[in-house]
Amino acid sequence: MKVLTVFGTRPEAIKMAPLVKRLQLEEGIESVLCVTAQHREMLDQVLALFELVPDYDLNIMKQNQTISQITSNVIMGLEEVYKKERPDIVLVHGDTTTTFAAALAAFYQQIRIGHVEAGLRTYDKYSPYPEEMNRVLTGHLSDLHFAPTERNRKNLLAEGIADSHIFVTGNTVIDALLEVAGKPYEFEEETLRSIDFENKRLITVTCHRRENLGENMVHIFSAIRDIAEEFTDTEIVYPVHLNPKVRETAGAILGNSSRVHLIEPLQYQPFVNLMAKSYLIITDSGGMQEEAPSLGKPVLVVRKETERPEAVEAGTVKLAGVSRETIYKMAKELLANKGVYDRMARAVNPYGDGHACERIVKALKQYGEESNNQN
Ligand code: UD1
Ligand code: UDP
Repeated sequence: MKVLTVFGTRPEAIKMAPLVKRLQLEEGIESVLCVTAQHREMLDQVLALFELVPDYDLNIMKQNQTISQITSNVIMGLEEVYKKERPDIVLVHGDTTTTFAAALAAFYQQIRIGHVEAGLRTYDKYSPYPEEMNRVLTGHLSDLHFAPTERNRKNLLAEGIADSHIFVTGNTVIDALLEVAGKPYEFEEETLRSIDFENKRLITVTCHRRENLGENMVHIFSAIRDIAEEFTDTEIVYPVHLNPKVRETAGAILGNSSRVHLIEPLQYQPFVNLMAKSYLIITDSGGMQEEAPSLGKPVLVVRKETERPEAVEAGTVKLAGVSRETIYKMAKELLANKGVYDRMARAVNPYGDGHACERIVKALKQYGEESNNQN
């Protein structure tokens, strides 16, 4: 069985790396890896860490690229790769534009599609944008659906996807996290080495979503500046996404704040260690809502909704929205009220046990055997 995996951005790479590594070792599976490089530097950081060498690299990234550019370049680039490789199945991950375009290109050539991290929904087509529609459309193009949780499975069933094509596997991000978090590590980054982790409370921040660009980001960063000014025992570390629009707003609002450290995107291993040392995490990232509960770290999600309600129900994630006042108030409560903090800072694993890749490979092999028997 030839399995062609396609991904293009940092989070897809982190979540697919352990799966590709497993596929490469599996007898009876020929694994081919194609990266679109929708992200360049941030993708390469992950490929280097997991020692993955792609068979194909479409190298599509442009500064300030539009969604249409990504979509068309991925579809055009993959046409050749799919024709040459004729895989039995293409694997895509999650909800980026690489994901949707790679699935569409496979559908055009009538190649089967397996969707990893299937079934997440907000039911608001503009939030997150364009991810909600990317995952809905990818879901309906796909033949096999690897759903992280039971709730994700139910979402797919409600859209008419056949139960026999859905596999609840856990999220592969926990496989990646456990692989990396277990290893001893010391920070190499100068700013991180200089922080007094014993006596200061660390707040890790990330923010990049398209629907937050502009006004929302101004509110979010202003709230973070307020927190830094009020709580003198905090240090705020924000590895800033390479999107020029994000960097401009972050620099303008947080650039002169003495307790806020704006640094370059971190490799996954230092970043996981940073989260593990944090008192609190403030983010609009999807993946970090899955990782932080495993590490027992409270998360304030600076978005209006989340497709990951499991962590909210488990008590470690709260939706803070995008208003300056509310974000500040919620962070203040966690910094000032130990009872509230302790209730959130519990390690829970609603997203998996670190064995998601194993389950996905098993389902793929079973599917391969069934297809062979039918032919
Ligand atoms: C993309 C995904 C989003 C995902 C996010 C993870 C889409 C439309 N968006 O958003 O779903 O959550 O990745 O981070 O698929 N850049 C660099 N170097 C890099 C990466 C980005 O310079 O390594 C800059 C480029 O100028 C690029 C811009 O950032 O044009 C935006 O990148 P893009 O992939 O279009 O959007 P993201 O906001 O990263
Ligand atoms: N991450 C990282 N370095 C950083 C910031 C984040 O390795 O400087 C990791 C983080 O642990 C998570 C993933 O990147 O696994 C999240 O990626 P991103 O925020 O780009 O996308 P999203 O999760 O929003 O899709």
